[in-house]
Amino acid sequence: MIVLGIETSCDETSASVVKDFKVLSNVVKTQSIHIEYGGVVPDLASKDHEKKILNVVNASLKEANICLSDIDAVAVTYGSGLLGSLIVGLNFAKGLCVGLNIPLIGVSHLVGHLSSSFINKEILYPHLSLIVSGGHTQIWLVKSSHQYSVIANTVDDAAGEAFDKGARILGLSYPGGPEIEKKSKDGNPNKYIFTIPEVKQNPLNFSFSGLKTALLYKKKELDTLKEYHLSDLAASYQHAIVKTLLVKLERAITQYKINNITIVGGVSANLYFRELAKSLEQKYDLRIVFPDMEYCTDNAAMIAMAGYLQLKDKQYSDLTIEANPNIVYN
Ligand code: KG4
Ligand code: ZN
Repeated sequence: MIVLGIETSCDETSASVVKDFKVLSNVVKTQSIHIEYGGVVPDLASKDHEKKILNVVNASLKEANICLSDIDAVAVTYGSGLLGSLIVGLNFAKGLCVGLNIPLIGVSHLVGHLSSSFINKEILYPHLSLIVSGGHTQIWLVKSSHQYSVIANTVDDAAGEAFDKGARILGLSYPGGPEIEKKSKDGNPNKYIFTIPEVKQNPLNFSFSGLKTALLYKKKELDTLKEYHLSDLAASYQHAIVKTLLVKLERAITQYKINNITIVGGVSANLYFRELAKSLEQKYDLRIVFPDMEYCTDNAAMIAMAGYLQLKDKQYSDLTIEANPNIVYN
């Protein structure tokens, strides 16, 4: 079975071909037009997707060495994301499905991230998945390709957002995660202690907005004392974000007694995070799977893989499916 995946939810125009669990191609064009604005400009993003989508899809078919008639289904991100950008990918996918008379599979962006761990790895059900992206921080209990429930959520910022906002405070560029990780390499993660934020109503939930404020005050204090050292502060802040994620994950593991774990989404590319997560593996006899690096941040291979898993379970979408910028996951 061959699935074409399309992802245009934010600032990556991406297309991928997956055949029987194997990624045959994954073309990702990241838009550079937003750099001068320090964040993604929605209008510019959708126009750029329109300009690039045909070439990106053609390139993915060529790289996979297949033609349109070989495709069994098209999987596409229908939400969450930027409305205009989602519409470009969704309409393109619908056109292909009508033209080729094949099923359409609408994939939510988070189910896409969830499915990235299936690329080149064997993942069992049920498992817990910690999804850490720029817009979401959640733990899901995953029972099958289409049965899941959200068991933990952030009450304010997402982990990726904490990296991005923290980077801005430290004078680093966007996206902040990789920048903070780079600066942290020569820093001492235990130099400054940030308190792990707790959410009273639910000990599994995350909160990151207080950490960002604590970082701001710490930087001001160190500036005044002329003791500011970027690497140490970046490393300590990164440590606090990672510890927060792992403390909550540890609680979920104890509560749900599940030892198959995946950690996915942009922040899962962080090597310090991966290293600290490994220590949980020994402590609880777990199997923690991180996606291969290239599938952590947004890409269409994860959407194609989600589509492939759903196609196997005969989970198709109606052609009337609409773009949904704010999917509520629960
Ligand atoms: O999953 P993703 O590519 O897009 C969303 O769905 O949001 O995640 C992007 C987020 C950004 O906040 C970025 O700063 C963060 O992932 N990120 C990282 C790293 N690479 C990307 N955070 C920490 N360390 C990294 N190496
Ligand atoms: Zn994403």
